[in-house]
Amino acid sequence: MAWMSSAEQTSPGSRPTAGSTFVRACRGEPVTHTPVWFMRQAGRSLPEYRELRAGVRMLESCRRPDLVTEITLQPVRRHGVDAAIFFSDIMVPLDAAGVDLDIVAGTGPVVAEPVRTMADLDRVRPLDPAAVSYVDEAVRLLTAELGETPLIGFAGAPFTLASYLVEGGPSRNHTQTKALMYGDPELWHALLARLADITLTFLKVQIAAGVSAVQLFDSWVGALSEADYREYVLPHSRAVLEGLTDAGVPRIHFGVGTALLLPAMAQAGADVVGVDWRTPLDQAAKLVPGHPVQGNLDPAVLFAPWEVVEREVRRILAEGRTAPGHVFNLGHGVLPETDPTVLTRVVELVHELSAR
Ligand code: CP3
Repeated sequence: MAWMSSAEQTSPGSRPTAGSTFVRACRGEPVTHTPVWFMRQAGRSLPEYRELRAGVRMLESCRRPDLVTEITLQPVRRHGVDAAIFFSDIMVPLDAAGVDLDIVAGTGPVVAEPVRTMADLDRVRPLDPAAVSYVDEAVRLLTAELGETPLIGFAGAPFTLASYLVEGGPSRNHTQTKALMYGDPELWHALLARLADITLTFLKVQIAAGVSAVQLFDSWVGALSEADYREYVLPHSRAVLEGLTDAGVPRIHFGVGTALLLPAMAQAGADVVGVDWRTPLDQAAKLVPGHPVQGNLDPAVLFAPWEVVEREVRRILAEGRTAPGHVFNLGHGVLPETDPTVLTRVVELVHELSAR
């Protein structure tokens, strides 16, 4: 594909995945079965992942196209999911943009010097696409391997990235983040605008290299009220999603604890709205008319007896049928302790129950 012009590469029809159930469901087109993939499907729930990652730091593994390719393919081979998600992390573009950070196993992203002043913001530089050439390379390797199976690209949304940058690491209450947001709105908006710019560049690199869809993860935005979301976050998430309007790939917008934010998140420019397990998909569908939905099995249900898993899968498929399209997923990422054989059974069950 390297010889194609970027216009040809980004035209949806030119992608061999346009007829896939995943892309069709994202567009609200009829499908032969409900497509299914899992957030965090690549990772610690898989012994083959733990083996490959032994002795390699998380950020280092993200910079190695050979490892990224293999790790991304592992869950596709094992579970037979309908889409692959690119193995990387939401912190990768910030690392590439010059922020001193690490991803610590069992903790998450840790930022050496948190961003709390205008002077700190200077350390968050715009992203030079050349600084993530390893992403371009890995996406090209992967799309060649995957053929008609779509590859989903992704990035962290401005609020969730800001939370890690301002707190310096994972946070339960986002106190420093909110102190900055309410206390220095000018700096807040400058920071989120910078993060939106980095995110947009990062997603454009993935799209130009061949991903079939993108997901914007705003994992922690459920910490905000709808009014604050609209004032402090929505314009910046919109800059990312609307910046991709002409890219020709479906845009999925996901957050956790977002029941009352779903309409605003759809308005930010999403095609598909990701829903956590707290909001039934039929209720979500009413909140975002015209939008396909993605979700929303509680990741903890995978630890319950199989009869419960089966009951929940049936319920979610029934509720998902009320939306213009449904992509089956968990309501948040696969937990590391999950038995991967249960995930494979869920894929089989979704395919069997939804076949039409
Ligand atoms: O399979 C996939 O979904 C693709 C890979 C992926 C990772 N991170 C790999 C990863 C994706 C899509 C992400 C996104 C991500 N990263 C989010 C948004 C999704 C979500 O879960 O809400 C967030 C908030 C992060 C930040 C982050 N990075 C966290 C919270 C952690 C886990 C910390 C821990 O160890 O418990 C990471 C590290 C990380 N990212 C791992 C993986 C596989 C674990 C690292 C390891 O194996 O040592």
